[in-house]
Amino acid sequence: MNNPISGFYKKTKQEKLAWLREHYFHEDEETLATLENYWHPNKEVQSLHDEFIENTVSNFYLPIGIAPNFNINGKLLAIPMAIEESSVVAAASNAAKFWLERGGFHAEVISSVKNGQVHFTYMGDKKHLIAFFNQHKSAFIHAISDLQKNMQARGGGLLNVELIDKTNELEHYYQLHATFETLDAMGANFINSCLEAMAQALEDLGSEYKPFKEQNTFPIVEMSILSNYTPECLVRAEVQCKVADLKHGNLGGEEFARRLVRAVNIAKVEPRRAVTHNKGIMNGIDAVVIATGNDFRAVEAGAHAYACKDGHYTSLTHAEIKGDTFRFWIELPLAIGTVGGLTSLHPMVRFALSLLENPNAKELMEIIAVAGLAQNFAALRSLVTTGIQQGHMRMHLGNILNQLDANASQKESAEAYFKKHTVSFKAVKHFLENNK
Ligand code: MEV
Repeated sequence: MNNPISGFYKKTKQEKLAWLREHYFHEDEETLATLENYWHPNKEVQSLHDEFIENTVSNFYLPIGIAPNFNINGKLLAIPMAIEESSVVAAASNAAKFWLERGGFHAEVISSVKNGQVHFTYMGDKKHLIAFFNQHKSAFIHAISDLQKNMQARGGGLLNVELIDKTNELEHYYQLHATFETLDAMGANFINSCLEAMAQALEDLGSEYKPFKEQNTFPIVEMSILSNYTPECLVRAEVQCKVADLKHGNLGGEEFARRLVRAVNIAKVEPRRAVTHNKGIMNGIDAVVIATGNDFRAVEAGAHAYACKDGHYTSLTHAEIKGDTFRFWIELPLAIGTVGGLTSLHPMVRFALSLLENPNAKELMEIIAVAGLAQNFAALRSLVTTGIQQGHMRMHLGNILNQLDANASQKESAEAYFKKHTVSFKAVKHFLENNK
């Protein structure tokens, strides 16, 4: 076993590689060379990436692809997607094309409020705490006046702060629950700074408050942090068309619509299906969230929490047939930004935002929700017709061919052959053996 190391972060990149060589890769020069091969040739770009995180030794590339032909609220957009899964961009593009011919996507932001909490313990008489809060609410707001000056000048900032009694759920547990409008910023740093300033004010003012002193019990701050559950930062995207216009291959519109609605309803009642259903939605959402430099872990956590807001895990999309109209929609929280964070730093993020015509945060929420809805439509369309593997494996063919070291001409003939034959690792291997 290797010995632990301290101060690893102080080593230069070359020293870190030397350490890797010494402790993990010994004679394996090829792996170490791969790390260096993945450095960006432009030193400035590389040093930008080095500084995104600590202890950088190389870069981890993801492809960024484009799904064109998205009509969103009447605007034609090509959506950038950063993702490793082979069928996702193709599926999004197909869904975009399908709905382009049927009126496109409509999306709207329902609300854009973010929130965070100062979690604290208070063991004294509740009525003193309520009186203290009411008396000092304006002081909590004053405590963040410098922090929120710029945000307020742009029309955002703190919306409200409330005292919440959580003692029914956990003994002596209270919160300052604060809500914010952060405009085009995701706002994590802004919100956390405000919460920490309010927490400080809570303890400082609390230590001077006479009834607390008399009881010798004071509010004790446990932690201050934004919430990634943002059900008040909500967006809806939808498509609709005449049932008859849904005709798909040999399937009539009515039967296709029935199958789609049934598939969504299965995901509504069966959590095992809902998780996979929503995972497919997140294929589209995460790909755009990553391409636009946003925090996909935050988006994932918030989306899945929203999927069980009514007490059981369910589908994030909905579908219905009403009269002669088929409607399919998604509603989910998306706390994202188009300024701050990586947005102006990462060259690919700048490209992605520019391709999307530099949307504001609300427009980007709409675009991301559409990408999720499109992805779900594409997945369900395959699942209820041909099955998922046909398209999935066709898209995966390239990966298998690379894995088996196929040359350019073998790839070309394999791609032609597998248009009409089922793709599997075994079948591709067999094909290559017979087409050397
Ligand atoms: C695969 O990444 C995503 C799907 O499983 C989604 C779904 O089943 O709806 C195809």
